[in-house]
Order: sequence, then structure tokens, then C-alpha cells
Amino acid sequence: MSRAHTKVVAKQNKYAARSRVRNTDLIVPEAFIRGIRHLGYQSNVEALAELVDNAIQAYAESIDIVFSFQDVDGERKPSQIAIIDDGHGMDPAMMRIALLWGGTHRENDRDGLGRFGYGLPCAAVSIGRRFTIYSKTKGHRLHAVKLDVDAIVSGNAISSRKIAIPPAQPAILPPFLRRAIRQAHPTGWRAGTIIVIDHLDRLDWSTASGLKRNLIRRFGVTYHKLLSATRLTIDGTAVRPIDPLFLNPDAELFDLDEDRAIALDPVSFKLHTAEGRIGEVVLRYAWIPPSFAATDKSRDAVGMNANPRFPIIKQYHGVLFSRNGRLIDVRPRTPWTIFMNNDRYIRVEVEFSAALDEAFGVTTSKQQVSVTPEMWDHLRVAGLPKAIEHLRTKVRVAKSERLAQGPVAAPIATRNTSQMKLPSATGIPNGITASQALGLLLDEIECRSSSAKPSVQAAYSSLLKGWSERLASLTLRSARSDT
Ligand SMILES: Nc1ncnc2c1ncn2[C@@H]1O[C@H](COP(=O)(O)OP(=O)(O)OP(=O)(O)O)[C@@H](O)[C@H]1O
Ligand SMILES: [Mg+2]
Repeated sequence: MSRAHTKVVAKQNKYAARSRVRNTDLIVPEAFIRGIRHLGYQSNVEALAELVDNAIQAYAESIDIVFSFQDVDGERKPSQIAIIDDGHGMDPAMMRIALLWGGTHRENDRDGLGRFGYGLPCAAVSIGRRFTIYSKTKGHRLHAVKLDVDAIVSGNAISSRKIAIPPAQPAILPPFLRRAIRQAHPTGWRAGTIIVIDHLDRLDWSTASGLKRNLIRRFGVTYHKLLSATRLTIDGTAVRPIDPLFLNPDAELFDLDEDRAIALDPVSFKLHTAEGRIGEVVLRYAWIPPSFAATDKSRDAVGMNANPRFPIIKQYHGVLFSRNGRLIDVRPRTPWTIFMNNDRYIRVEVEFSAALDEAFGVTTSKQQVSVTPEMWDHLRVAGLPKAIEHLRTKVRVAKSERLAQGPVAAPIATRNTSQMKLPSATGIPNGITASQALGLLLDEIECRSSSAKPSVQAAYSSLLKGWSERLASLTLRSARSDT
């Protein structure tokens, strides 16, 4: 066991020893168990992410999510889901506490992914009515501890209004887990944890393959910054990182074709919290060319012409929020603007350290943010709304250029045959109308102005003001001559 592992296990044991007295207070009535099942993970994906978070935080190098089936053929629903990791594991006293709501050895910790002590039990019972924790630390025996919702709800596991959770017992793995461990760890599984969920009455997907497909895609994005250190598989298939900003050359879909995302410089700032912590925020920006999500680049990314990037830009549409390197939310609404369909082509990520959880309103299930007005203001000062507008302009310019160049422009050009064609001597290609060229020029001005210093912005703005006044006077003159 590495020094880091030993340190964490020692910390867990110290905590478990102290908690023995308090354990009696941690026992909860059956109504709580019934209610907590519906606490509200957006889907099984967010719930399973809690268990992946725990494994990552236990220094797992390898995490395998496996399904077991009762029937043998056809498109099937799994009867059990197991999350296997090779992290530092838990000793028996900690295992029993880990199963309880509120049991954590890292209460209010801000260095990793967990801090509340709710993730494990909440996630497990949101999917099934029973779960088992198997765990072993290096050099020790495997133990297991189990929570059965039915036994609690029926009152069988309750005495004197308290739930009786028996201590973790020495255990052997059921055959399907032995098989999975042999496959994932052919040279031996020395330490780690397995969470098995069964009596799966709250599966959001009717088949294992649907769940698998979604887990691969969603976890690819959620953990894209963490997957280089941890191997994650779903039912035998490796999850590959997918950068939702498409800037990481090592991530999936980056080099699907010749189109590339274009980054703006990231911006970062530090904040001191009232609790005396220092947190960092990094704003990452990119925009993607209009043909980025299309297979045939001359046509729009719709229907059969949408490439595999399309579902990602559609699903992760808005400002992305990442906490300690793990994506937790996507918000299409900011105090200044709402992301519309066209804004799929602009990519914005707010990466923050967990020290700033209060300012970002991170909830217990860590699947959403609720940003405080003060934090929005910090983001505004750091240039977020300006950058969004700048990215929008970049996309607009790219779109009108594409319209002007590609076959997509043809119907528009022919519709506007009454408009004057500009001669190629001006540097404008044949077939481009004056209004198209003017539109591009205005976009270009807006684009340059939005990224310029204030004095240059003022110069652009006075240019446009003068122009629009002349246009207005022209309109007035032609109206007079009409009457
Ligand atoms: N895979 C694992 N390996 C080792 N220890 C684990 C693992 N999963 C959970 N634990 C232990 O069980 C405790 C409870 O986990 P749980 O997910 O409920 O809470 P948490 O991770 O501390 O906080 P949060 O509610 O924010 O997730 C953890 O603090 C940790 O000590
Ligand atoms: Mg956790």
C-alpha cells in the first residue's frame, strides 16, 4: 500500500473509532429511507457518478462498471450493477459507516470530489432496493456489509425505532464479480471496493445497452479531465475522454475530421472566501466552425448529416461548470443572456475549485450549481459576458462567410438577383451581393470592436453611429421624394 493509501486508511480508521459512540445516533426511521430514494438524481448516470467519484478519490487506477443478468438472451435489463475499483479500500468499521447517510471521513473537505457523506447510500438506493459494499485494504480479508430497503421499510431491520445495520462480515465474492475481477485484474486484486446494487426497480433505461451507451458518452464528458489518471470501463468498453470544448487533442472527436475548435485565451482569477479558503476560477472559451458537427461539410448538421460531435454540442449547450476537474452542470441561462440554438457553436466552461462551493451553490448530489449573484458579478468582471458576445460574433462571421462561399449560399444569391453584384476587382469574389458583403463587414467590425481596448471600441462605435445617422437622413430624403 502506498503512503498516500495508508494515510487515508489510517484517517478512516481514526474516524471510525471515534464514531462508534455516535453510530447509535446515525440510525434513521423507515420513512426517511423511503423518501431518500426519490431525492432526485437527474438520472442513473448522475447517481453512478457518485460512486465513480468515490473510486477516483480512493486513488483507483481502474474502475469497472459491470452488469449481471438473470435471463440469458435478448436485449436485457441488468439484474445487478457493480462498480469495482482498485483504490485503497476500507477496513470493516469504515465500511459500515460508509453505508450510512452522513458517514464520511472527509466531512467538508475541499480537496477532492466528495465532502457530504451522502453520495454512496443516496446513489445506490436511487437505483435499487438493496446494495452491498465489498471492500478490502491491502493485506486484509474481504468484508461485506449490506443495506436492504425492503427490510427497513417492512420494519424487520428496525428495533426501538432505530435501524440495525449489522457490522461488516468476512465475505467471498459471488461468481459474476469473481469473473469481472479476473478480467479486469488478471494479476490480482490487492485492495479496492465494490458496490453492488440489486433489486433494480429504478432503472431509467429499459436495456443494459441503452444505459451503457449513455454512461460511455456522459462519463466521457463528465470525467474528461480525470480519465488520463484512471481507466474507466462500462460493461467492458473503455470510456474515452470527450472535451466538450473540443480543444484537447488527446480526447475523442477532436480530430474526427479537418474541422477544429478555436480557443480564446483562458482567464483565471483567485478569490478568498469568508471561511478563509482560497479558490480559483478558470474560464475556458472556444468556438467551433459552422460545419463542425456535419459529415458533408457543404450541408447543415441536421438529420443523417449530423456527425458524432452533434449530440455532444446539443446536450452540453450553455455555460459548463466543472468542480475540481469534474463536470457538474450545464446552464443555458446567465443573468445577461440565454443560450439559443445558434449558441451551440460557442463553448464556455467555468472551472472552479471546491473551496468556492458556497459561491457556486453546489448541492449535496453535486449535479447542479446555483451561482450566487456575487459570483455572477465576479464572472462578469472577469469578462464572461463580453467573451460570450465575442464568441457569438466569431460564429456569426464564420457562418456568413460559409454562406458566401459554399453551395449553401447559392439559393440566397439567386433569390437576390436584383441586388448589385460587386466586381471581383474589389477583392470580393464574383457572385457575392453588396448586402452579403456589407453584412460581413459589419460582423467583422463588431468582432474587432468587442475584443478591442475601450478607445478603439469608442472609435468603432462613433464610426457606426455616423454611418447610421447618414443612413437615417438618406431614408428621410427618399421618403420625402416619394410623397
Ligand atoms: N470506493 C471507495 N473506496 C474507499 N472508500 C470509500 C469508497 N466509497 C466510499 N468510501 C468511504 O465512504 C465514505 C462515504 O462515501 P460517500 O460517497 O457517502 O460520502 P463522501 O464521498 O465522503 O461525500 P459525498 O456525499 O460528497 O459523496 C467516504 O467518505 C469514504 O471514506
Ligand atoms: Mg462520495
